[in-house]
Amino acid sequence: MTKTARAFTNIALIKYWGKKNQQLKLPWTNSLSLTLDRFYTDTTSEIIDSDKDVIYLNESLLDEQKSKRIVNYLNNTRKQFGFTEHFKINSINHVPTSAGFASSASGFAALAASIDQTMDLKLTKTQLSILARNGSGSASRSIYGGFVEWIAGDNNENSYAVPIDENPDIDLEVLSVVVNQKAKKISSTIGMEKSVETSPFYPNWVKLVSSETIEIKEAIKQKDIQKIGEIAEHNAMSMHALTLSANPAFTYFEPKTVEIIHLIQELRQKGIMAYVTIDAGPNVKILGTHKSIEQVKTYLNNLSDVTTVVANIGHGIQYF
Ligand code: PMV
Repeated sequence: MTKTARAFTNIALIKYWGKKNQQLKLPWTNSLSLTLDRFYTDTTSEIIDSDKDVIYLNESLLDEQKSKRIVNYLNNTRKQFGFTEHFKINSINHVPTSAGFASSASGFAALAASIDQTMDLKLTKTQLSILARNGSGSASRSIYGGFVEWIAGDNNENSYAVPIDENPDIDLEVLSVVVNQKAKKISSTIGMEKSVETSPFYPNWVKLVSSETIEIKEAIKQKDIQKIGEIAEHNAMSMHALTLSANPAFTYFEPKTVEIIHLIQELRQKGIMAYVTIDAGPNVKILGTHKSIEQVKTYLNNLSDVTTVVANIGHGIQYF
């Protein structure tokens, strides 16, 4: 019986932004995320009698161009583990199309876990995190639930995620606000490259991440949602400052993104505890408590053209 591997997506509170090794996806800094329960990928892989992999995403067969990244990943994995089998991969993204989450984190974490199952590699969670990282950096963190830190390391064996608290008892919710579902013009890979190479602030980013990682871990230990939110928002804004200070400058923000940032700042003035974080795209994620997120939702309903999805804290890899 082929088992299904399920991986949930995660939102970085301390962002991964910049690689020191493109091929291995080794980051310049640690990063720290929260795994979310609403958005996940289910993947099965079956060995087939063929010298080509066959990839289905959401029940449709991917053409050569679209399956290239996954096939390259499988080729590297075969080389690394010394097997030659090819696969029929079936991957379903349970990410509401309105959620605006990139699926590469849950996608590569589920794929790594599925290959481990099918080939009976018996990988430890650390090895699984490394294998997921080889597909997409942020996928390294989706092996675990709750709060997770990805230790940057400096080679393929020592760059992996570790759990900080997989089942935190904390009233933290994430509201995903979608302003645009179109594919982004500048991929995270290119955005990172441009930031590292041309932003004069990149060396400061490396220092900032190191101090904010220590601070947010303390805030997590204290279950201090306000502090977690403050640090996450500052870290996200600092990441986006790297795109604005790149040469030539670019931004993932759209007018609606900025409108929501202003709204959240105003709501804080009114005493509502809410903070924003934004990845390599225009959509906004709002951190708060169950109560404050309910309040934020009522204000967002007054904005046109936005959809929202609430998520809570999610699990690590599951098999069934
Ligand atoms: O893992 P990638 O290549 O999709 O990059 C993720 C980059 C951010 O989402 C912006 C930050 C992060 O740490 O997830």
